[in-house]
Amino acid sequence: MPSLNVAHVILWLTMIFSPCFSVTIDREGLPDTGLSTASWVSGTLPPLNSMWELNDFQIAAKNTLAARWYGTTASLDQVTYQANMNIWTKIRLNGYTFRDVSDVNLHTTILGYNFTVPFFIAPAAYAGHTSNSAELSLARAAGKIGALYVPSIDSTKTIEEIAEAGLANQVMFHQEYVWSNRTLLRDDLRRIEDAGYKAIFLTVDNTGVNGIRIQAMRETGSLDSDSGHDASFSAAALSDIQKLTSLPIVPKGIKTAADAKTCLDLGFKAIYVSNHGGRVLDNAPTAVEVLLDIHRQYPEVFEKMEVYADGGVRNANHIITLLALGARAVGLGRSPMYANIYGEDGVNRMFTLLRAELESSLKLLGEANIHQLRGDTSYVNTKQVELEYFGRD
Ligand SMILES: Cc1cc2nc3c(=O)[nH]c(=O)nc-3n(C[C@H](O)[C@H](O)[C@H](O)COP(=O)(O)O)c2cc1C
Ligand SMILES: *[C@@H]1O[C@H](CO)[C@@H](O)[C@H](O)[C@H]1NC(C)=O
Ligand SMILES: *[C@@H]1O[C@H](CO)[C@@H](O)[C@H](O)[C@H]1NC(C)=O
Repeated sequence: MPSLNVAHVILWLTMIFSPCFSVTIDREGLPDTGLSTASWVSGTLPPLNSMWELNDFQIAAKNTLAARWYGTTASLDQVTYQANMNIWTKIRLNGYTFRDVSDVNLHTTILGYNFTVPFFIAPAAYAGHTSNSAELSLARAAGKIGALYVPSIDSTKTIEEIAEAGLANQVMFHQEYVWSNRTLLRDDLRRIEDAGYKAIFLTVDNTGVNGIRIQAMRETGSLDSDSGHDASFSAAALSDIQKLTSLPIVPKGIKTAADAKTCLDLGFKAIYVSNHGGRVLDNAPTAVEVLLDIHRQYPEVFEKMEVYADGGVRNANHIITLLALGARAVGLGRSPMYANIYGEDGVNRMFTLLRAELESSLKLLGEANIHQLRGDTSYVNTKQVELEYFGRD
């Protein structure tokens, strides 16, 4: 008599009950990329080779991570978070056909350091919770492709552990907060410098408090928005912090043209336009809008400072848009964190996909050299955004 072994029984049960195992995930309005979740098992990693663009990793992370680590999206009604994701639909790129695009160049310097791509891993607190290899895999993947990684001061690994995970000559910057405890601030800056990081992204958009993130509060059960950040922070205090370290400080979280100009007047070499992925002031503008406003009010900012930008960057055309508007390099917050559910392999794949998209889009645009594209607004039509943001004037 044929034996009915366990494997047969499982196969049989799976066939009968398979609808019960299929996973339907709310895609939260993300583009439909044809990703099928029907064969996914809730809480289990889907195959890495089914990930074909950055939003796929977000859906995989949603299927896999505890709500506490996935659902920490943004503050209040998440208007800014959604705006970051949707602004791109209002952008039109001007692609020119009669050009030689055989020689692609993505090489980018950031504060004088060489990187192979114009995108970098932005700081994300607790990014390490998405993977056993934590932030170390982010450092390794960045090193492998030649991208910049900027770990958060709220990482699950120490400043020194992350520095050591990188390649021998890998350049990394480090993020820091404006702690009201200046001893802690001084200690952090010294450790960052000693560990070999080359610059500091000083986050200036949540002084005094963090944003109120409803989804996060639902998970943690507490209304605690007190961050230990200095609430009495001023332009003078920003200059004082620069005196505490020999590393260049880059104010991160600039979201008005006026603040960009203040940083220029204070002598900073670079600024980072960001609304913190919609996690601080809800209803703050997107990076596209802020860059346009800086162009209108203080165009000299782009000549005298390096400008980095982020928020909702999920494909190559988002990067191209920000570069054409004058950004030198573009940050990725959630995507590397979500890709890291697969550890270093996931982050490598995410980078490879994004780089391939970028090479492809640049060729289709008729400008394969990123140096020529940067700051050249002839490649991007932003009239729809301008009409809504500035009104008819
Ligand atoms: C979970 C999470 C944690 C973050 N933690 C930090 C942080 O510690 N410091 C910081 O300057 N920015 C932090 N950010 C903001 C990112 O650096 C970046 O500005 C933002 O995520 C970019 O938007 P994106 O997620 O749409 O790419 C965080 C973002 C997320 C999603
Ligand atoms: C960056 O690369 C260029 C050549 O591509 C080289 O001349 C330059 O010295 C490099 N700079 C640094 C800081 O490594
Ligand atoms: C300030 O930070 C230092 C260094 O980490 C720490 O030793 C000290 O206890 C902190 N002070 C307060 C008041 O929290």
